[in-house]
Amino acid sequence: MKILIVYTTRHGCTEKCAEKLRGRLNGEVDIVNLKSAGSPTLSDYETVLIGGSIHVGQVQKKIRAFCLDHEAELKQKTLGLFLCCMEEGKKAQEQFDAAFSKALRAHAAAQGLFGGEFDFSRMNFLERKIVKKVAGVEGSVSRISEEAIERFAADLVRNLPEG
Ligand SMILES: Cc1cc2nc3c(=O)[nH]c(=O)nc-3n(C[C@H](O)[C@H](O)[C@H](O)COP(=O)(O)O)c2cc1C
Repeated sequence: MKILIVYTTRHGCTEKCAEKLRGRLNGEVDIVNLKSAGSPTLSDYETVLIGGSIHVGQVQKKIRAFCLDHEAELKQKTLGLFLCCMEEGKKAQEQFDAAFSKALRAHAAAQGLFGGEFDFSRMNFLERKIVKKVAGVEGSVSRISEEAIERFAADLVRNLPEG
């Protein structure tokens, strides 16, 4: 049973979460960064997990395009969808719902909001300015939810096909 995790990241948080998730799954897990690698061959995998992050209200275009281009095939897989962002609660859920289509959300065996990080060391001048103004923080913060990652992995394992 092969698992694929595809993700995009701007400052490394989603990549970190993809690795954390891999650590909680058994079997062969490949991780592909959609930005640096080409689009993977989905027919090689029974399970596909897709992760992106939110910047100024939007998930990365590459995630959106990947989901749109492969929607029919993704609906034949065991599917997981996750998102990194710093908003919480209702706002985070709205961002999640806007990031992934209704059809994919309805099909997904696992969905997760994994929290996020503000990593000032990796932001450019403008990003720092936006984050200081909008979020009111002056330095790096990490709010990755290990609990959400664990719950996602448990939901997924419960829904994996036998064998
Ligand atoms: C310029 C900027 C804008 C952001 N805008 C949002 C936002 O609109 N909503 C939100 O929930 N988080 C926002 N965030 C927080 C990111 O989602 C968070 O930093 C996330 O961990 C980034 O993951 P990545 O490093 O994998 O891209 C923003 C972060 C930056 C730097």
